[in-house]
Amino acid sequence: MDFARLWLGLLLPLVAALDFSYHHQEEMETFLKNVAQNYSSVTHLHCVGKSVKGRNLWVLVVGRSPREHRIGIPEFKYVANMHGDETVGRELLLHLIDYLVTNDGKDFEITRLINSTRIHIMPSMNPDGFEAVKKPDCFNTNGRENNNFYDLNRNFPDGFEFNNESRQPETVAVMEWLKTETFVLSANLHGGALVASYPFDNGVSATGKVHSRSVTPDDDVFQYLANSYASKNVNMKKGDHCKNKMNFRNGIVNGYEWYPLKGGMQDYNYIWAQCFEITLELSCCKYPREEKLPLFWDSNKASLIEYIKQVHLGIKGQVFDQKGNPLPNVIVEVQDRKHVCPYKTNKFGEYYLLLLPGSYTLNVTVPGQEPYLTKVIIPKKSQDFSALKKDIVFPLRGHLDSSLLSNPSCPMIPLYSILPNHSAATKPSLFLFLVTLFHILFK
Ligand SMILES: *[C@@H]1O[C@H](CO)[C@@H](O)[C@H](O)[C@H]1NC(C)=O
Ligand SMILES: *[C@@H]1O[C@H](CO)[C@@H](O)[C@H](O)[C@H]1NC(C)=O
Ligand SMILES: *[C@@H]1O[C@H](CO)[C@@H](O)[C@H](O)[C@H]1NC(C)=O
Ligand SMILES: *[C@@H]1O[C@H](CO)[C@@H](O)[C@H](O)[C@H]1NC(C)=O
Ligand SMILES: *[C@@H]1O[C@H](CO)[C@@H](O)[C@H](O)[C@H]1NC(C)=O
Ligand SMILES: [Zn+2]
Repeated sequence: MDFARLWLGLLLPLVAALDFSYHHQEEMETFLKNVAQNYSSVTHLHCVGKSVKGRNLWVLVVGRSPREHRIGIPEFKYVANMHGDETVGRELLLHLIDYLVTNDGKDFEITRLINSTRIHIMPSMNPDGFEAVKKPDCFNTNGRENNNFYDLNRNFPDGFEFNNESRQPETVAVMEWLKTETFVLSANLHGGALVASYPFDNGVSATGKVHSRSVTPDDDVFQYLANSYASKNVNMKKGDHCKNKMNFRNGIVNGYEWYPLKGGMQDYNYIWAQCFEITLELSCCKYPREEKLPLFWDSNKASLIEYIKQVHLGIKGQVFDQKGNPLPNVIVEVQDRKHVCPYKTNKFGEYYLLLLPGSYTLNVTVPGQEPYLTKVIIPKKSQDFSALKKDIVFPLRGHLDSSLLSNPSCPMIPLYSILPNHSAATKPSLFLFLVTLFHILFK
């Protein structure tokens, strides 16, 4: 036995050297498989579907229990490279994976993050588009779409109007993936601008009255989330980084105010998947030269970590009946923050609500029963690595409606169109319209 080799063998997994170059599908797969093998106790690699050309859509999960959900551990995700020619996010996520696994057990914060969170990372949602781009180019939009020439960020069901575009395999794969976990928080990584954009991307007058922003009932939380990313990125927070492009105050913007779009992924996540998602535009140049990648990693590393920590905002817990059985499919919402498709407990009776410090009334609803209201105060002190925990015993009366046991999912129709005065969508100002003409290609 060669002891020097044994030593090397033990040390090597800790010095996983991921270089700053573009990793094409094969190299990316090799890297992900190596990580999954070298760090098998904290990672789980799986494929959630295939692209049009049959390339795997990989997801690497990092967590103390990477293979399955644990009660109280929120599910977080990052998705990049949905537009194949927007490449920075793809490489950043590979470096993030490397950073997480190599610092587990070494760095206190990363260890706590991995202990308390299950982190799902999809470095490329559009591998065909990425492979279709021949070489780095800031503005070439070849490769933005999937192999059937569909823009995947216009391909989801829309909350405000019918989106009858034919649903693409990559989109279907993500929609199915969303059903498999109760994702709480997410970000979608793009390029071509420098800003953190938050829902809604589309709107109707019921959501879009204020200065042409189309706001969710969780607008305070979304602005906070976008800020938590932008404020740690030295270039993004300046808000005016890309030449000749719109100024973004503090580096954040409401998606609809920037320019309205139909069929985007962030609105879909928020409306149908109970998952708060924002869209991160990480580089003025969509596909910069490899030499720039270390700079992008330096300016985004702190933000990427800080944003994951936000999955622990607010309140979480389980809903039980008086006998201690967890109740699935119970609506748990904050009064005055109703979601058009109500947020419900998962099969373990769990709920997660992202909220800023303050006092709130939770409205817990079981079909056929009186709603149960309960007050909560989310304290100011920072809730690092765990939301406020509050389990709820629902005071069931009489016979339990059996529809509780089934899970009627929300219909995939424009749900906001059933709200009052939906007919006249708030039109963005002429100024915004002109800006939009120049920027229609970025999100
Ligand atoms: C995994 O371990 C192998 C052998 O020890 C090493 O060559 C490789 O660089 C490691 N890769 C990663 C990504 O950790
Ligand atoms: C992380 O969890 C492990 C148990 O899985 C525990 O031993 C360790 O102390 C925890 N570390 C931190 C920093 O919370
Ligand atoms: C889209 O499809 C729905 C039903 O699937 C239909 O009711 C609607 O009219 C269609 N809209 C357009 C613009 O084609
Ligand atoms: C609680 O929610 C239910 C439906 O989810 C609603 O019908 C009821 O009006 C709400 N109650 C209050 C006091 O907000
Ligand atoms: C929407 O409808 C309400 C009453 O239903 C009305 O007060 C309000 O002015 C309408 N808003 C717009 C933008 O039409
Ligand atoms: Zn994009």
